[in-house]
Amino acid sequence: MSASSSVAIQRIRSVAELREWRGPAGDVGFVPTMGALHDGHLALVERAVRDNEGAIASIFVNPAQFGPNEDYRAYPRDEERDLALLERAGCHSVFLPSVAEMYPPGDDMRVVPGDIASRLEGAARPGHFAGVCTIVAKLFGMVRPTRAYFGQKDFQQLRVLQTMVRSLALDVRVVPCPIVRAADGLALSSRNAYLGADERARALALSGGLLAAAKAWVQGERDATALRRTVEAVAHQAGSLEYVSVADPVTLREVAGRAERAVISLACRVGNARLLDNVLLGMTLDELAEL
Ligand code: PAJ
Repeated sequence: MSASSSVAIQRIRSVAELREWRGPAGDVGFVPTMGALHDGHLALVERAVRDNEGAIASIFVNPAQFGPNEDYRAYPRDEERDLALLERAGCHSVFLPSVAEMYPPGDDMRVVPGDIASRLEGAARPGHFAGVCTIVAKLFGMVRPTRAYFGQKDFQQLRVLQTMVRSLALDVRVVPCPIVRAADGLALSSRNAYLGADERARALALSGGLLAAAKAWVQGERDATALRRTVEAVAHQAGSLEYVSVADPVTLREVAGRAERAVISLACRVGNARLLDNVLLGMTLDELAEL
């Protein structure tokens, strides 16, 4: 029923058009995505709409952040559906660049993150975070947002991008947003589309394992090994666990012994999907935003 939902979303395909759009707009909230949108993305968009005079999302499946044997080609794409969802969420504009627009002739620069990107997803997916940092830095240069919204769902990505903004002194505020889950607990992900019905049911063990660890934390468990084993005991039922990590939420270094605060994150292969989930303990997203 919001007034904005009746206004057609503005589609912007070139950097030139984007610069024109940006000119007069005051505070701009920006939500970078790869499309195949779900309620997790839309929660970021709704927050951007609420907090800013203008809100823009981008949809770009970034080839540079996919490894050679990953799902770049198979990644779900449905532009018309995505645009309808963005419009319904009250998003004013959407940037839909081509690969040539983002990587034009003469493009010869990469943003390569350091230690924070070396472990977990960075270890599992060599070059992935350089691809993410490069595209997000380009998008920031094009959109020049006041605030940019990222999900806790990709916790390491959030920390890598916070570190990029700090290290390169970029003039944008990174706003971390909580994980949106299905009613049964599964973290929403575009890659859930790869799951068959049986796999979807098994994947519940991932959030189930994290929930068990969160309960243990509330009951006073602080031992990193015990927390990790609590997750593994449940989550292994989902499929082939790549890692379960108990790390410091700021540095992402593994905790040895007692944890004062922690992010427990996991990656698991369930059928053809590689799924991520995490839980943040002893620290709030608001505290993380202030880093
Ligand atoms: P994508 O996977 O499309 O995610 C876009 C944003 O939505 C990210 O900030 C991600 O953390 C957030 N998100 C995804 N699922 C979520 C959920 N269940 N709850 C809350 N937020 C969720 O992440 C990327 O795209 C790309 O790496 C990108 C940053 C766009 C660079 O290409």
